[in-house]
Amino acid sequence: MRFIETDSYGELSLLAANMLSAQVILKPDSILGLATGSTPIGAYEQVIENYNRGLLDFSEVKTVNLDEYVGLDERNRQSYRYFMSKNLFDHINIKKENTYLPNGAAENLDEECSRYQKLIEGFGGADLQLLGIGRNGHIGFNEPTDYFSREVYVEKLTESTIEANSRLFDAGETVPTHAITMGIGTIMRAKKILLIAGADKKDIIEKTVNGKITPLVPASVLQLHSDVTVILSKN
Ligand code: PGA
Repeated sequence: MRFIETDSYGELSLLAANMLSAQVILKPDSILGLATGSTPIGAYEQVIENYNRGLLDFSEVKTVNLDEYVGLDERNRQSYRYFMSKNLFDHINIKKENTYLPNGAAENLDEECSRYQKLIEGFGGADLQLLGIGRNGHIGFNEPTDYFSREVYVEKLTESTIEANSRLFDAGETVPTHAITMGIGTIMRAKKILLIAGADKKDIIEKTVNGKITPLVPASVLQLHSDVTVILSKN
């Protein structure tokens, strides 16, 4: 595991964007595993800047996102599909049909999970998977529990996650209680993993990098992956 500390969120975003950009330059038909949340927004802005400077071509890139809220479709501005369009896809030349997220509005969620799992397996996993981390150590929406999940599944979100996410919802909007998420096994299939965390995640990053490997800190499993970079912003 490579561990990098930066002095600022801007520096973290630039480093993360450099890794994503290098991946696309070196392998134009990359499968990028993408994440939502507030942490990756700066990296996506930098990627868009690189694209606008003519450095990047996404015409052959495919993306798979970690997760999506159950019950929200892409027209809902709280959905992760909406987030990805607004913060990245609408600003680069990626084909919409090459951007994949679980369908949180699917009628049959079990079928949707298995469809999404098979899709990622068909790609052979992501070439580079970007991750944020929850204060409780979740990656994707894999909440702390007593086992590591293998495949895409429906997770019931913990109170602390619902509360953390509620800051992004307007008063009167209901925060979803469930999400479809890649399992730990799905995430670990990625060839390379990049975990980014702001200064507020310092304690959980310490446990992730140096603590025991336990499903009670889901991100700690990354110690078993052969190509992980963790970037923490100190400020
Ligand atoms: P954040 O969320 O980037 O908004 O802090 C990360 C996560 O919960 O995985």
